[in-house]
Amino acid sequence: MGEWLRSDGVIALRRWRRRDAQALVACIDGDPEIGRWLDRIPQPYTPADALAFISGIGETAFAVVDERSGRLVGGVGLRWAEDVAEIGYWARADARGRGLTTRALVLAAGIAFADGAARVQLRADVENAASRRVAEKAGFTAEGVLREAHWNPRLGRRQSWVMYSLLPGER
Ligand SMILES: CC(C)(COP(=O)(O)OP(=O)(O)OC[C@H]1O[C@@H](n2cnc3c(N)ncnc32)[C@H](O)[C@@H]1OP(=O)(O)O)[C@@H](O)C(=O)NCCC(=O)NCCS
Repeated sequence: MGEWLRSDGVIALRRWRRRDAQALVACIDGDPEIGRWLDRIPQPYTPADALAFISGIGETAFAVVDERSGRLVGGVGLRWAEDVAEIGYWARADARGRGLTTRALVLAAGIAFADGAARVQLRADVENAASRRVAEKAGFTAEGVLREAHWNPRLGRRQSWVMYSLLPGER
């Protein structure tokens, strides 16, 4: 479909739109995993939070949808620093464990490289096994650990992040 930026036969990435707000709240509000690992996303998560996100993001955050049904299954975002793109992601609880976020990460990295990224990176908590697995399945290399890099009040501890990267040609 014309609204899709990238698709792989199972999922598609498209831009967020205001009418996603209700589904976005259903995905994020009260989800313990998203709450725990993504502490910059407000909890509780309200329609006002969703609309603020959707109207503020510009070009670099994408809705992940089921290609056949169009159902929202997750989100993936790129943050740029010079020619390095950092990717973050989440999946709605009932869509997890089917490889959808790995697909979304591959597609998002493809967008980043097409837009000139010399390096795509992501950070996953040392204990976030699902996220680390996603990075590894998508072909990212674990480079090392950013020790005690971030205070996460929801975990009540500092987070140590595994830094993963993917370079052009490694896809
Ligand atoms: C991380 C997250 C995005 C993964 O989404 P997903 O769509 O389930 O990802 P995939 O299905 O592509 O892959 C998940 C992998 O993790 C594995 N996994 C899931 N939970 C696990 C656990 N507790 N321990 C070990 N492996 C686990 C799955 O088995 C799967 O690997 P496999 O294909 O080898 O079996 C999802 O769990 C999520 O939204 N978590 C909360 C937000 C978050 O942590 N975001 C990342 C921040 S860095």
